[in-house]
Amino acid sequence: MKKLSVNLGSRSYEVAIGSGLLAQAGRYLNGLGLGPQVVIITNPEVRRLHGQKLEESLATAGLSAITLEVAEGEEQKSLETAGWLYNELSRLSAERSTPILALGGGVIGDLAGFVAATYMRGVPLVQLPTTLLAQVDSSIGGKVAVNHGQLKNNIGAFYQPRLVLSNTSALKTLPAREFANGLAEVIKSAVIGDGNLFAFLEANLDSIKGQEGEALEEIVFRSARIKAAVVEKDETDQGLRNVLNFGHTVGHGIETASGFMIGHGAAVAIGMLAAAAVSQRLGLFGEDELARLKALIHAAGLPTEVSGGKVKDILAAMRHDKKIQGGRMRLVLPRAIGDVIISDEAELSLVEEVLTG
Ligand code: NAD
Ligand code: GLY
Repeated sequence: MKKLSVNLGSRSYEVAIGSGLLAQAGRYLNGLGLGPQVVIITNPEVRRLHGQKLEESLATAGLSAITLEVAEGEEQKSLETAGWLYNELSRLSAERSTPILALGGGVIGDLAGFVAATYMRGVPLVQLPTTLLAQVDSSIGGKVAVNHGQLKNNIGAFYQPRLVLSNTSALKTLPAREFANGLAEVIKSAVIGDGNLFAFLEANLDSIKGQEGEALEEIVFRSARIKAAVVEKDETDQGLRNVLNFGHTVGHGIETASGFMIGHGAAVAIGMLAAAAVSQRLGLFGEDELARLKALIHAAGLPTEVSGGKVKDILAAMRHDKKIQGGRMRLVLPRAIGDVIISDEAELSLVEEVLTG
């Protein structure tokens, strides 16, 4: 088991990472003085797979838990579902001191986090992430939100959890596509802040894909540590936090152009390579390092290119993106593996060039 702290003054908290941690949730909550009543927010599949372990652990620790299930899917990140959860919390007489435990992936974490931030002006939040993406990214840093209208994450808050427990053994039940989504974020973390993590991924990819405990714990820990360090420097996203979007600007265009048929991880993988190729063309990033990135993404089972016919649609989707103005966009560009800059030097035409190959 590994631990790290997210140091944010009075909003600081611990992230614990290891196998079998859900069975210790009750003990951790008691340690923080949270309870004696708690509310778990999850979805039916995650509850079926992992809910019992959590509920047993809470009961053993003398905590009384009620579980609220929301249906599966990104569309549950809505004000409507949040409204239903507020009604349920009122019906259960949940108080300001009643912690909300978010058991699930990023969808549950963002939704339950948003409800925790707003119900009675804020109740304690505990993140219990069960996807690789949530363990390395979304459960840490306090961005909580629902989607509204056509916009993603546009109603939200910065609301830090009191604790993050990342139970790496929960990842065993994760579908391959979801695991790949998370791996793309792990590679992102390595490129933005940890060259040693990148080398570890290169050397241990088979063990990681085979979900061997120690290797998995290592990559979740190192990625979480990078996210924590960025958040500590820029909690409210004034600039630096944007480095976490490495690969996401082009990636978002790819997801949109595909009508969301291409998964998030696949899109981010191609987006990272596009940004790295732009950086190489600008003379900032070495050709050998670009080749290493491509080889790792390929070995991780993620795509390295889009088919030529799709590039026009991707560019069209990117032109619609409000963040892109006058043909220029803000891109996170690697200067080395483990070191990136935020730049608005790149023109959309250069992105087109590198995507076309
Ligand atoms: P998700 O929450 O939709 O989970 C993916 C799928 O895996 C779901 O079907 C879920 O039911 C299932 N699942 C979860 N845990 C499982 C397990 N252990 N075994 C089997 N199935 C399991 O997707 P995600 O990729 O975790 O999160 C995506 C969301 O995260 C998006 O809404 C995105 O906006 C958000 N996000 C937020 C932040 C942030 O900083 N707050 C950062 C990145 C992404
Ligand atoms: N995932 C982007 C952020 O947390 O800022």
